[in-house]
Amino acid sequence: MEILVAKTAGFCFGVKKAIEKAFNEKGERIFTYGPIIHNKQVVEELKDRGIDVVENLDNIQPNDKIIVRSHGISKGEYEKIEQMGAVIVDATCPYVKHIHKIVEQRFNDGYKIIIVGDENHPEVRGINGWCNNTAIIINEIEDLNKIDKNLGRICIVAQTTFNQNKWYKISAELIKFAKEILIYNTICSATDERQNEAIELSNKVDVMIVIGGKNSSNSRKLYEICRDNCKKAIFIEDENELNLDEVAGASKVGITAGASTPDYTIKAVIEKLDSLNKLEDRTYESDDEIDY
Ligand code: F3S
Repeated sequence: MEILVAKTAGFCFGVKKAIEKAFNEKGERIFTYGPIIHNKQVVEELKDRGIDVVENLDNIQPNDKIIVRSHGISKGEYEKIEQMGAVIVDATCPYVKHIHKIVEQRFNDGYKIIIVGDENHPEVRGINGWCNNTAIIINEIEDLNKIDKNLGRICIVAQTTFNQNKWYKISAELIKFAKEILIYNTICSATDERQNEAIELSNKVDVMIVIGGKNSSNSRKLYEICRDNCKKAIFIEDENELNLDEVAGASKVGITAGASTPDYTIKAVIEKLDSLNKLEDRTYESDDEIDY
């Protein structure tokens, strides 16, 4: 069995930075505001170092250190943390911060903000908080049926991990709804590259494995892409969820992983797969991203 690993599999730049920041933080009472990433092991490791998760800002105390994760937060949440007398350790990804700036500025300029993304995702909720929670949020092309047809001046941004093909379709449709339109393609290049590589890889393998948290939106999108381009796609959180019977007999297996999947989890999946290869030659296409 040939095992082909996507070069872009695993932590993206923003997640890597946020995790480093969290692990380097020192102090008495430190919390991440929500889990730092969608990965139980990393959250547990932080807990072992005394960094717990706080979900509700009403529970924080003066001088607590609150780590803002890469997804970012709303303007109101920054203000609330400050009002509570806590210290903000800001690990918001710079790409997400850039969206906050666009949204705040264009909202103040009088544009109706449209976010193309999942309304339940923390990044989208955070972005909406930079235009007073007034944005229209579109996740599916069908959502366009529910909105006003005369929106006037609109400004569109995308969730950084949004599916690029869906983004093109939705933003093209939105032109019909406006007199004036500003379109900012804020899908992050890490997402773009990962999705493009997933398309390419899933087209040349028999089975495609996507490793990522079940709550991780970018991992779920990778899985959707792989499912559309490969006759068999499997979505697992870690090596324990990999059923070798599902890949037995495949001559080429591809692996990609979401932005919050640590290298050690990718490596463990490769090793488990490789156990099927005991008597065969094996090939790894990529070894520059993964440290064996
Ligand atoms: Fe940032 Fe892109 Fe990752 S927006 S958190 S580098 S997926």
